[in-house]
Amino acid sequence: MNDDKLAIEGGRKAAGGVGPFPSKIGKDELLEVLDLWEMSPKTASGIKALLQNDAHIRGPHLFRYYNPRPSKVAAAEAAMKKFIGTEYFMATNSGTSALVAAYRALGIGMGDEVIVPAYTFFATAATVVACNAIPVIVDVDRTLCMDAQAVEKAITKRTKAIAPVHMRGAPAQMDAIMDVARKHGIPVVEDVAQAAGGAFGGKMLGSIGTVGCFSFQHYKIIVSGEGGFLTTNDKKLYTRALNWHDCAACWRPDRFGPEQEGEDLFCGENYRMSELQGAVALAQIRRAGDILARHRAAKKKIKEAMEEFPGLSFRKIADPDGDTGICLIFFLPNVETTRRALAALKAEGVPCGGIYDSKVRDWHIYAYWEHILKYKSVAADRLPWSGVSAGELPKYTKDMCPAALELLSRAILVDIDYNMRDSDCATVANAINKVLRVYLK
Ligand SMILES: Cc1ncc(COP(=O)(O)O)c(C=O)c1O
Repeated sequence: MNDDKLAIEGGRKAAGGVGPFPSKIGKDELLEVLDLWEMSPKTASGIKALLQNDAHIRGPHLFRYYNPRPSKVAAAEAAMKKFIGTEYFMATNSGTSALVAAYRALGIGMGDEVIVPAYTFFATAATVVACNAIPVIVDVDRTLCMDAQAVEKAITKRTKAIAPVHMRGAPAQMDAIMDVARKHGIPVVEDVAQAAGGAFGGKMLGSIGTVGCFSFQHYKIIVSGEGGFLTTNDKKLYTRALNWHDCAACWRPDRFGPEQEGEDLFCGENYRMSELQGAVALAQIRRAGDILARHRAAKKKIKEAMEEFPGLSFRKIADPDGDTGICLIFFLPNVETTRRALAALKAEGVPCGGIYDSKVRDWHIYAYWEHILKYKSVAADRLPWSGVSAGELPKYTKDMCPAALELLSRAILVDIDYNMRDSDCATVANAINKVLRVYLK
């Protein structure tokens, strides 16, 4: 055969047989991943020997797109769809990125306002600032979630979203919040970071508002170390969120989608979930039903075994059937009793903590959000605060949400691990009763 004939004209390929080359990720990397799990030396050396002797091992493709094998991230999205039930799902590398993508997909930017609760992990508000918009902080009610009446009072012509947070595993009062949102035509961004698997009125959290944002960070209910998901039934919003979460795909959301134009063509960032996170998330979502059932059963056992005491009251759960059961929060009559009972409970070994202490800095309480309260900015442009005239800025003060401070300073939170056995639940309840008998006589 004439070697000069071009392959394109039927000649022999001059560079045939070069590649494909194996994955950059091989056995060493797999062993490092396995080393994340504790195991007996015998198992560890057995696995190592098996891997080293296996000539058929092929390294993974840890990027969700262009994957020759089925993507774990895509499988995790499909599993979330089954679990939560909205039409569209987008995996992200964190809950924070899911929130930014949600706000950006809603078109939120300079001069806009987003209403957030006084009690939430700071990310709900920090992500508003990351979009150059202004967080408007409102008080909570006895659910320890956003108070719908406070939300209505805080609405201005610049309000572009309401962001209820289903705090500490329990739903916000979503009927009242959605009524206010609908009345004023404002989208709702549900922050479900702490309440995956919870529900309100028979609907899964994250499927009630315009968009839902989940975190799979290590301390959440279902976890992949880091990770998050965005949920919505709105196709346009989903497409815009996809654009934002993958800057390389801005003109083709999901890399293979139809080309974008006009206002939907914009520069995004990179919030993509890796296949490693996706694999762990997938396994966790499959286990979510069991994890939640065990949390709920343990909480019920502890609560039912607690005695009645004068001055003891429980956090209001907006929908008891929708509680995830990850913790039990109760209030004592005053700050001093709370402080002393808390120390006694800890001394007994009860897994618990206080929520607000005026002397202990905690990013879950708005009073410590100095960067917001003092209008701090990362750059000389002074954004987001320079986005409106000084007279239009919210007046933040440390005591502007009195219900949050008052309730949280008298609250005790008992952590519920889903591995608690019946005997653990009884032990915890007995210890609580022992302490409250002394302090709530
Ligand atoms: C209420 C709330 N919102 C948002 C986040 C942010 O999630 P992530 O840590 O995955 O970015 C968290 C958790 O850290 C959270 O608790």
